[in-house]
Amino acid sequence: MFDHTSDRPLIAPSLLAADPLQLLCHAEAARRGGADLLHLDVMDGHFVPNLSFGTQTCAALARAGVLPLDVHLMVTEPLTLIDAFAEGGASVITVHAEIGAEPATACLRRIHELGVGAGLSVKPGTPVAAVEPFLEYADMILLMTVEPGFGGQGFLPGSLERIGELRGIIDLRGFACRIEIDGGVRKDNIVRCAQAGTDIFVAGSATFGDTEEETERKVRALRTALEA
Ligand code: DX5
Ligand code: ZN
Repeated sequence: MFDHTSDRPLIAPSLLAADPLQLLCHAEAARRGGADLLHLDVMDGHFVPNLSFGTQTCAALARAGVLPLDVHLMVTEPLTLIDAFAEGGASVITVHAEIGAEPATACLRRIHELGVGAGLSVKPGTPVAAVEPFLEYADMILLMTVEPGFGGQGFLPGSLERIGELRGIIDLRGFACRIEIDGGVRKDNIVRCAQAGTDIFVAGSATFGDTEEETERKVRALRTALEA
């Protein structure tokens, strides 16, 4: 999934922020603007107080072949869904450490068995050090920079320090895990997040607009900020 030889920061627009009636055309606009992945926030209304996409949306987007799909499972029992999202064309599937060490490890193993990139995520209230037991199984660590559940929230204070702490843990242990962040990423904080050690940027409100042109322009603005 990840070209470990490339240090190019990746932009993953979160479709949670897109108009549900215009997912495909705005996904294509995001690609034109320089997006690398499409982030699909899957919510079960239990692990987080919101309900969002299912496997049908994932499979339809995969069939359209716009960009690789980065599926974020904010669900209590992800093991029941992993095979369906893998068959539905997910390139990366991320589960949360908060479901418990044993189930999370079983999920990461199953995701790898299916030939899909495996991600582990932690909520803002979970210590960064909690990811350590998972580093050998994960291709990516997703650090939530807002409380998961809804887009449009503010980037939580202390997130930059958590990114730096995670970068330090991964580098010290010598793993190649990528760091992805999700929530409140904007033009005015994305460079500091990159400097702190982030590789992949999920952004919803900062990428999708009312028109395709606006979406393309917003994604390009994030890309330009990263490359400045
Ligand atoms: C929270 C969601 C949001 C979304 C990004 O569970 O995961 O973080 O992807 O939304 P913005 O970029 O608007 O915070
Ligand atoms: Zn997400």
